[in-house]
Amino acid sequence: MASNSLFFFFFTFLFGTILLSNAQLSPTFYDATCPDALAVIKTLIQQAVANETRMAASLIRLHFHDCFVQGCDASVLLDELATPTSERTALQNNNSARGYEVIDAMKAEVERICPGIVSCADILAVAARDASVEANGPTWTVQLGRRDSTTANRTEAEANLPRFTSSLDEHIANFDGKGLNVRDLVALSGSHTIGQAQCVTFRGRIYDNNSDIEAGFRSTRQGNCPNTTDGEGNGNLAPLDLVTPDLFDNNYFVNLIEKKGLLQSDQILFSGQQTDSIVTEYSNNPETFRVDFANAMVKMGDIRPLLGDAGIIRSVCSTLEMNPQAM
Ligand code: HEM
Ligand SMILES: *[C@@H]1O[C@H](CO)[C@@H](O)[C@H](O)[C@H]1NC(C)=O
Ligand SMILES: *[C@@H]1O[C@H](CO)[C@@H](O)[C@H](O)[C@H]1NC(C)=O
Ligand SMILES: *[C@@H]1O[C@H](CO)[C@@H](O)[C@H](O)[C@H]1NC(C)=O
Ligand SMILES: *[C@@H]1O[C@H](CO)[C@@H](O)[C@H](O)[C@H]1NC(C)=O
Ligand SMILES: *[C@@H]1O[C@H](CO)[C@@H](O)[C@H](O)[C@H]1NC(C)=O
Repeated sequence: MASNSLFFFFFTFLFGTILLSNAQLSPTFYDATCPDALAVIKTLIQQAVANETRMAASLIRLHFHDCFVQGCDASVLLDELATPTSERTALQNNNSARGYEVIDAMKAEVERICPGIVSCADILAVAARDASVEANGPTWTVQLGRRDSTTANRTEAEANLPRFTSSLDEHIANFDGKGLNVRDLVALSGSHTIGQAQCVTFRGRIYDNNSDIEAGFRSTRQGNCPNTTDGEGNGNLAPLDLVTPDLFDNNYFVNLIEKKGLLQSDQILFSGQQTDSIVTEYSNNPETFRVDFANAMVKMGDIRPLLGDAGIIRSVCSTLEMNPQAM
């Protein structure tokens, strides 16, 4: 009896310890197995953003669109050949999410130095951090050890990725479902301090004359976004932050107070509701925004990761075909 329970205790302790030590994200996850991975990714992000400034924005968004669907598992990267339920063609991603080739190129380089070790989900998380830094945004320590999914889910993508037509309460509920609070929602939305949006996403806002929008800003935006219903001009781009479109700063929040948010989902954060005070705080205090943004990105990166033996390490981020070296 006594020896049985002692054995049971030992057994539980031993396996509990093994599970705990494996099943957690850690900033040092690749220190022994691929010590150069982070430096390689950083260099390639610097090159990609030097080549095209907007890529910094696109990569931050890609990590976000990964984490909100099945957790941060690189499901967003699987293409139509890999799975018929690819998320790439979900409404919120199709002809909109970008940066897949940059991730594929980074993965190829990381596979060359340490095959089968570094997950695509982790590459997305590191790329987002390095992209923020390149855009003059904050830095943070990236937790590592996520593994890659073998599945994607377009239905979940369309249900979980936020829509610019949703109400503030819907955004709050969606983020809450991911363990992100109202402050995280506002801070993360501050990503819209960089990057571009297509006319089709803000046409309703600039032609609905009842919308809460500054008149000069409206007419400027109308200049490159025709009021058509046949799709003409749908892809015409405008900066999400009209003041400093390529700089990660707090002008996004200043714009909202001036009724110059581009998307309805931007302006809704300053529309007489509970997030007004947070927008005002970030508009007055850029450092608070930077600190909150960095912390919220770490929280977002911790949404339901695949750990331990769950999932796989893909060889090519967009496919499920394994590199024989990595099996
Ligand atoms: C809260 C609700 C949100 C909505 C409704 C929303 C919606 C959108 C839309 C419609 C676009 C333009 C896409 C296009 O025209 O192709 C966009 C761009 C972008 N979003 Fe969001 N977004 C939200 C939150 C976030 C969050 C949390 C992040 C990151 C943490 C983020 C990062 C970005 C970035 C960086 C861009 C520019 C991408 C580029 O230029 O390639 N967004 N978003
Ligand atoms: C550089 O950016 C352009 C788009 O501006 C893109 O077409 C091209 O593939 C990029 N080149 C590299 C090497 O990333
Ligand atoms: C995605 O966009 C392509 C190109 O515009 C289009 O042909 C296709 O029907 C779209 N897919 C979905 C699922 O909407
Ligand atoms: C895809 O997501 C939907 C909505 O969250 C869920 O009901 C469904 O079970 C998922 N499908 C798979 C194959 O996991
Ligand atoms: C924009 O187009 C819609 C639909 O055709 C129309 O009802 C509306 O009056 C137009 N608005 C402006 C400002 O031209
Ligand atoms: C809406 O406002 C624009 C000016 O911003 C004006 O040209 C247009 O006629 C207005 N449309 C309607 C339907 O009132």
